[in-house]
Amino acid sequence: MKLQVRGFEIHKGLLDAAAQRGILDAVRKVVAQAPFFRPDTPYGKPMSVRITAAGVYGWFSDKAGYRYVPAHPSGKPWPAIPGEVLSIWSQVTALDRMPECCLINYYGPDARMGLHQDRDEAEMQWPVVSISLGDDGLFRMGNVTRGGKTESIWLQSGDVVVMGGDARLAYHGVDRIRPGSSRLLPKGGRLNLTLRVVT
Ligand code: SIN
Ligand code: FE2
Repeated sequence: MKLQVRGFEIHKGLLDAAAQRGILDAVRKVVAQAPFFRPDTPYGKPMSVRITAAGVYGWFSDKAGYRYVPAHPSGKPWPAIPGEVLSIWSQVTALDRMPECCLINYYGPDARMGLHQDRDEAEMQWPVVSISLGDDGLFRMGNVTRGGKTESIWLQSGDVVVMGGDARLAYHGVDRIRPGSSRLLPKGGRLNLTLRVVT
């Protein structure tokens, strides 16, 4: 089922259980090479999500600001974006251009992500594709300018969101997760993968 909310294209239940497990296995291989870490915000407070990445670039944040970097904090290059994940990009965008970053966010029971725009990429005409796995997350969608009315939807394991067109620069965030709502991750929590064209 595909929903449209403020230009956000929400493919509910795009990934069946087997596809979710396949992506989870691929994510585990990435995380074995590039362990999760907790970045600092430019304001000095650590983010509540833990992050890592795959691709030529990974998204990164510290006191110097938000940016894309070619290596994990360990100094090693990021692992390649798994083929299963690239297939989802191709399926939902039908683009020849491939993403260069797969940011992987892990939300523990108390993690959240404040409303923000994705605007650290060089060219913002390309969509951002988000894949949700594990516990449900309350995803809030706003406007291209700060403030105003917002709408929220619970994203569940296997849901895929395309943020393109009017939604590409729209504010969005995750208010909270619903711990224990999925059994995909043995220790619980929520994984979100976002695919971005960076350069
Ligand atoms: C993000 O905006 O980077 C994450 C969105 C989500 O976790 O669903
Ligand atoms: Fe985002």
